[in-house]
Amino acid sequence: MGDIKDKTAKIYPYKTHTGDQPMDSVHKYLSTFQQYQSLWVHYNWNKALKDGAQEEGLPYSGKYQFVKTIAYVSAPHQVAPKEDALQCGDCHMGAKRMDWKALGYKADPMMTGGRFAGKKK
Ligand code: HEC
Repeated sequence: MGDIKDKTAKIYPYKTHTGDQPMDSVHKYLSTFQQYQSLWVHYNWNKALKDGAQEEGLPYSGKYQFVKTIAYVSAPHQVAPKEDALQCGDCHMGAKRMDWKALGYKADPMMTGGRFAGKKK
């Protein structure tokens, strides 16, 4: 989760994907289904799950269910065009994007210094 005192903590861009994902009901793991070569071809979940499990070398019981999941997806693609990149003033100088107090800062670190300001690195 990170913490203001954790030197390895970083602000990391990700998207949350909330959705129902298929799970093998017997083996109790989220299934990686074969999407492009199976599901979008046959529109058959059972076949797509079987093909996916085979590709991954995982056992497939033939019994599946959909479970509610929240996935934290890294954002290396679908990145906004450079014209929309954040500018200093989007986070600093009174901008509301960063809740500095909630993150443990005295105030905007641009004015008061970062987490390790004044401390030996
Ligand atoms: C996405 C939000 C974001 C943007 C955009 C951003 N900053 Fe920051 N800035 C931060 C955070 C978070 C910290 C605190 C870093 C820490 O404590 O390690 C910080 C810290 C700082 C500090 C204090 C550093 C220190 O160690 O004392 C300065 C100065 C600063 N930013 C200037 C800028 C400038 C100039 C820009 C534009 C080029 C900019 N920031 C863009 C989030 C942002």
